[in-house]
Amino acid sequence: MNIPKHIAIIMDGNGRWAKKRLLSRIQGHQKGVKVVREMVKNCGLLGVKTLTLFAFSSENKNRSTEEVTLLFKLFLTVLQQEVKKLNKHNVKLKIVGDMSLFPEEIQKKAKDAQKLLAKNTGLSLIIAANYGGKWDIAQAAQKAAQAVADGYIQPESINEDIFDKYMSLAEEPEVDLLIRTSGEQRISNFLLWDIAYSELYFTDTLWPDFDKSELDKAISSFNNRDRRFGVRKDKAC
Ligand code: IPE
Ligand code: IPE
Ligand code: MG
Repeated sequence: MNIPKHIAIIMDGNGRWAKKRLLSRIQGHQKGVKVVREMVKNCGLLGVKTLTLFAFSSENKNRSTEEVTLLFKLFLTVLQQEVKKLNKHNVKLKIVGDMSLFPEEIQKKAKDAQKLLAKNTGLSLIIAANYGGKWDIAQAAQKAAQAVADGYIQPESINEDIFDKYMSLAEEPEVDLLIRTSGEQRISNFLLWDIAYSELYFTDTLWPDFDKSELDKAISSFNNRDRRFGVRKDKAC
């Protein structure tokens, strides 16, 4: 079995999962967090190098104040509760996105957690929070423009490899497999630049129901893909 080096997941369907059970949306998000925990464990055991999770999109801040506030609280609780466990399991953590939206307490906890886990050498866990694929490209363009203005690089030297260095996932391997749960078949402004050649896997399963067997199904589907990268093995014309 070929294990993807980098898996990215759009964890969707928490609200619908809760609605089906007459629970509140936040209870759906709470169950979603439990699944994240399992997924981190399982990806670590499988030998996945990087797991990037879409936790909160740039657009999600336009949800009701109540839901956004509760999501922020949940994020803070998770940061407080999980860091020690992540450290014990040698997980490295990186949070990508425009963190300035978050309350200062969360920004500080997020910084501290990343600092504590920075030296770890196991699974790289990337959490995309207030993240948008367009935001990421725009912030990279700003940094590249600044480097030109400061005389570090020439405009004509900006190519794909140089530009990539300014993207949030610069240090990570290419995304091999992008999974979206809950039946929607769109990117919703998640990774754009980084999924140029990813394999896409859509499942109707709602995120709170996404377990190890669902992960195995996604990886087995990945194994049946013929990744050609534009090139034909058969050289005949
Ligand atoms: C995904 O679940 C989690 C976040 C976007 C924070 P949703 O909250 O989008 O759940 P649905 O799509 O309404 O079911
Ligand atoms: C994408 O889900 C964002 C996350 C999973 C964090 P959404 O539920 O926000 O996306 P849309 O509204 O279906 O496009
Ligand atoms: Mg959704």
